[in-house]
Amino acid sequence: MDRLTITETFAGISFPGHLHTRESLQLAQHFQFQDTDIVIATFPKSGTTWMQEILTLIHSKGDSLLAQTVPNWVRAPWLEHTYFRETVRDEGGVRLITTHLPYDILAPALKKSKAKVIYIARNPKDVAVSYYHFHKIAKFLPDPGTFEEFLDKFLDGTVHYGSWFQHVKGWLRHQEDTFFYITYEEMHMDLRDCIERLCGFISTSLTCEELDNVEQHCSFNTMSQNKMVNCTLISPEIIDHSKGKFMRKGVVGDWKQLFTGPLNILFDRVYQEEMSNCKHSFPLAQD
Ligand code: A3P
Repeated sequence: MDRLTITETFAGISFPGHLHTRESLQLAQHFQFQDTDIVIATFPKSGTTWMQEILTLIHSKGDSLLAQTVPNWVRAPWLEHTYFRETVRDEGGVRLITTHLPYDILAPALKKSKAKVIYIARNPKDVAVSYYHFHKIAKFLPDPGTFEEFLDKFLDGTVHYGSWFQHVKGWLRHQEDTFFYITYEEMHMDLRDCIERLCGFISTSLTCEELDNVEQHCSFNTMSQNKMVNCTLISPEIIDHSKGKFMRKGVVGDWKQLFTGPLNILFDRVYQEEMSNCKHSFPLAQD
């Protein structure tokens, strides 16, 4: 398969060459956003697919036809991926655009428009665990080694897509009124409330019944069975479905399964060093 073992380095950050080329990254950096665009920005494994599904369902007023028939990467294509140009719509209307790029790369292009940005963050311990498992099934990502080895790279910021800390701190600087910040944990705790707040942000109102439908179609169980989001459309040469599922567990606090006491202490120390100047915090020690 194409460029599965290639790493593309751009602005000092490594990206899987299977999905990115220097050209696709440069095009992303200089993309002309429209004021009606809605950008979903995340570090990988933070709830990107979940948000793509929620916004799709909000726009279709709870009708699941689009969500059940069109893959998420067509409905809300990744800006930096090689297929973006041929996938993104050029005619008017709301476009959902997804990105894992750090803020510094995209800020100049974004600031030229009033595009709305939704940033989702997740407890970084759960991100690390989810990302580790994803490395085991995604053949376009390097072999993660042991969890301890992987966590070292995650804390150093040398995993693909760079440092989680820089990513979160960077995007939280985008304090425009076109910016909406939400966490995976909030979505987990009260999805209905999050959907309602998102509707407010994108100026859409839904009836009670439409809200019920959005909520139901965006549940972990429904999404796990939806081929358009559960990655089973992707060939086994790219995602090895025999080694695990993309829609893996969908829970909060799974990090406790892999973090030993010493790894937890190390993580907390690095977190304090990196995040001391950040006004947002994450419930790292949640039970
Ligand atoms: P886990 O690996 O912890 O299960 P991304 O889309 O950014 O790659 O994030 C994938 C993570 O989000 C996976 O986490 C996946 O299970 C979780 N996820 C996706 N849809 C979800 C949903 N509806 N409810 C809860 N978690 C969901």
